[in-house]
Amino acid sequence: GTNGPLFGRTALVTAGPTHEPIDPVRYLANRSSGKQGFAIAEALAKLGAEVTMIAGPVALATPADVKRIDVQTALEMARAVDAALPADIAILSAAVADWRVDAADQKIKKNGGTAPGLKLVENPDILATLAKSDHRPTLLIGFAAETEKIIEHAQAKLARKGCDWIVANDVSGDVMGGDRNTIHLVTTQGVEAWPTATKAEVAARLANRIADALH
Ligand code: C5P
Repeated sequence: GTNGPLFGRTALVTAGPTHEPIDPVRYLANRSSGKQGFAIAEALAKLGAEVTMIAGPVALATPADVKRIDVQTALEMARAVDAALPADIAILSAAVADWRVDAADQKIKKNGGTAPGLKLVENPDILATLAKSDHRPTLLIGFAAETEKIIEHAQAKLARKGCDWIVANDVSGDVMGGDRNTIHLVTTQGVEAWPTATKAEVAARLANRIADALH
């Protein structure tokens, strides 16, 4: 609310997967429920931030007091992020497809046992682009979904992408689509191991941590 510690701050959140069309009826996508990103948008709004959430295709209700912009593809998400700037805080939790397809205008038909080849084109890295932008948010946070060497990979990603924090997510277990998450918060200062908690609890803790950092 208006007396929350993030009142007067703007926040941008990306959430969910992107869908990259192959033809009018098929797509490539990453596995992502969007639950953690939606919970983060909700938690930031609860602390008083003015939140814009750019969501890929997911069937989740819009959290209270969050402005939601729905997109399908990585290119649409990149444009929507650009249009939502400036923002004090950006949390890019979306599982963006690394490649898009040079899509066919008409449905691809089966052709006597010959599978079609897909020509893939690299998508822009929204996080890395934002890190270099003139409108770089004060606090820029990325996600890393890892199955091994979680901290090493997250520290490398922090440096490579030029963000301030990485929320490193251990996806070796049953995280995808589930309601709990095991997080390491990796910053340039060090690493915090957070206890396994619900996605709502992780979001609340992250929002409080952000409020402290901006104080
Ligand atoms: O490189 P990787 O996909 O593992 O990085 C994950 C982080 O980068 C996440 O914060 C994700 O939202 C962001 N990302 C992005 N644009 C991409 C790929 C990843 O913003 N094209």
